[in-house]
Amino acid sequence: MKFFVDTADTAEIKSLAASGLLDGVTTNPSLVAKSGRNFIEVIREICGIVEGPVSAEVAALDYEGMMREAAVLKAIASNVTIKLPLTPDGLRACKTLSGEGVMTNVTLCFSAVQALLAAKAGATFVSPFIGRLDDIGQDGLSLIGDIMTIYGNYPSLRTEVLAASVRHPVHLLEVAKMGAHVATLPPNVLRMLYNHPLTDKGLEGFLADWKKSGQTIA
Ligand code: E4P
Repeated sequence: MKFFVDTADTAEIKSLAASGLLDGVTTNPSLVAKSGRNFIEVIREICGIVEGPVSAEVAALDYEGMMREAAVLKAIASNVTIKLPLTPDGLRACKTLSGEGVMTNVTLCFSAVQALLAAKAGATFVSPFIGRLDDIGQDGLSLIGDIMTIYGNYPSLRTEVLAASVRHPVHLLEVAKMGAHVATLPPNVLRMLYNHPLTDKGLEGFLADWKKSGQTIA
């Protein structure tokens, strides 16, 4: 399973990439605005930090505008993935870009039939948003399950399911059990994955006993 981080904060990305466990990055217009930085510059810097896919989202709503913006974004680096909204124009742009061999990420997916459309449009990734469905009282995780089932029924569909809007490690646990190909995690959730109180307690006990033994490793 691939882990992406969902942020435009380059200091966070550098720190998390040092683990060697980071496979890519997703951004969105809100995350870029939060960074306070120029969009093109921040995407260029991120692409220099991670080798894997870096999602950069178009802002245009029409097909021609999306294609113009995609041309600018894909020129930044070979690992830029063009993020497109799940709209008729977004899917049309996805189909064109995928046909040109450009990586695409269809975002704002909230239903399994939308995910089917994204796959038919040749998307590299589809991003179903778990947390935002939970927020309105729907079951975000069952959306991932439905998409995995549908894609599994049609092995010729090559689109990877990128679980997005992940709010806590249990979301990751459940989507991993369902076989989601990728999860994009906020930095704090990614860091939480390392933690277990019994790991800390066990380490404390081992180190105390080791000290008593008076030995060193040299
Ligand atoms: C996905 O690519 C989105 O950037 C992201 O996961 C949205 O998460 P949010 O619902 O926490 O804003």
